[in-house]
Amino acid sequence: MLTASAAPRHFRSLLTTSARAFPLRSTHLAAPSARICPAFTLPRMASTSSVPSSMKAILIKDGKGPSENLYLSDHDVPQPGADEVLVKVKAFGLNRMDSMQRQGKYPLPPSAPKDIMGVEFSGLVATSNSSKFKEGEEVFGLVTGGAYAEYVKGPANMLLHKPKTLSHEQAAAIPEVWLTAFQALRVITNIQKGEDVLIHAGASGVGLAAIQLAKRFGARGIYVTAGSEEKIAACKKMGATEGFNYKAGSWAEGLEKATGGEGVDVVVDFIGAPYLEDNVKSLKKDGRLVFLAFMGGAIQQNFNLAQLLFKRLRLEGTTLRSRSLEYQSDLVQGFLETGMLEEIAREENDKDGPHPIIIHDVLPWDKIKEAHDMMEANKNTGKIVMVIP
Ligand SMILES: NC(=O)c1ccc[n+]([C@@H]2O[C@H](COP(=O)([O-])OP(=O)(O)OC[C@H]3O[C@@H](n4cnc5c(N)ncnc54)[C@H](OP(=O)(O)O)[C@@H]3O)[C@@H](O)[C@H]2O)c1
Repeated sequence: MLTASAAPRHFRSLLTTSARAFPLRSTHLAAPSARICPAFTLPRMASTSSVPSSMKAILIKDGKGPSENLYLSDHDVPQPGADEVLVKVKAFGLNRMDSMQRQGKYPLPPSAPKDIMGVEFSGLVATSNSSKFKEGEEVFGLVTGGAYAEYVKGPANMLLHKPKTLSHEQAAAIPEVWLTAFQALRVITNIQKGEDVLIHAGASGVGLAAIQLAKRFGARGIYVTAGSEEKIAACKKMGATEGFNYKAGSWAEGLEKATGGEGVDVVVDFIGAPYLEDNVKSLKKDGRLVFLAFMGGAIQQNFNLAQLLFKRLRLEGTTLRSRSLEYQSDLVQGFLETGMLEEIAREENDKDGPHPIIIHDVLPWDKIKEAHDMMEANKNTGKIVMVIP
């Protein structure tokens, strides 16, 4: 177990608060590549269902390129190693990093398959090398890659039993956005009851999950930015207090007015350089900002650092996929402990409920080019999910 004195500052802050999110182990501090791949793979387990040796998967012609380069091809079925599970995929979720990976712009973690994209999925256990899961069980989860395929293998600790009341499409839309939002709000910024938060790209998949988690964690004001009135309305439906259409005016002025000049305690940012100055201005003393992406650019010139000192600000970046398997596993378990999954499943089935899983579109997997184009044109509010017949 990590001690407070040995831990970096953000872990220390978690260790010293009563609301520690999930057990932290010293392995979280290891390089992302540490202990990712088991040194060996087990021989395939005896299975009552027959797992073929070959499967269909979406690959990228020439290794990288435009969406036209995506195509369905034959591929070997992956072999699960120790404590891993092989899943027959029914549905998988799309993420922006898939587009970057397709274009050859995403630094892959060492454990990720080089040729198959996809980090989240839902399906049936085909073979299991873990006592936690049995063949035929419905599961969903997170992997470092490989979900754009009929079969994906992943560590048992990053898998969850699918609630019976959720469809595979719904379950596949949960892992990446909810766990990223959980990491941002609990692990990195550790938002406290009564604090105010600004969530940029509020109508993105991660943004919508963050709004709902902030509400659950007792945030007071939940402010968002988005590129249209419709997207702001979608954010308010999920619990946002106020929204600012950045295409219609300055979000920073809108936020200043809405908070009576006070600003916010926490900022969840995906935009980067163009928002940096206003983000820092909008933070209260002891404010925390987490960078989850740099969709607007990563290079900022002439930035005055003074406020970081005077307001005692903390600015921190993170990516889920680059984290060690232990970290991601603990995140999955920490998220489970919040009871949020049960609540999501319950509310999703309440006809009057808020329907927390926001799916923009469900498409058959042979429409993968159209799906990537849709995401890159920012047409989606919430997740795009592909289904495998
Ligand atoms: N760090 C991590 O661990 C992690 C994990 C998951 C995702 N991410 C990143 O988080 C971001 C959101 O992911 P997602 O899957 O939730 O995305 P999404 O649902 O596809 O939504 C992204 C939204 O961001 C807004 N946007 C795009 N470019 C923008 C720009 N230049 N300025 C302002 N807003 C812009 C657009 O909405 P508007 O129309 O409102 O502008 C767009 O619809 C992505 O960049 C993704 O790579 C990071």
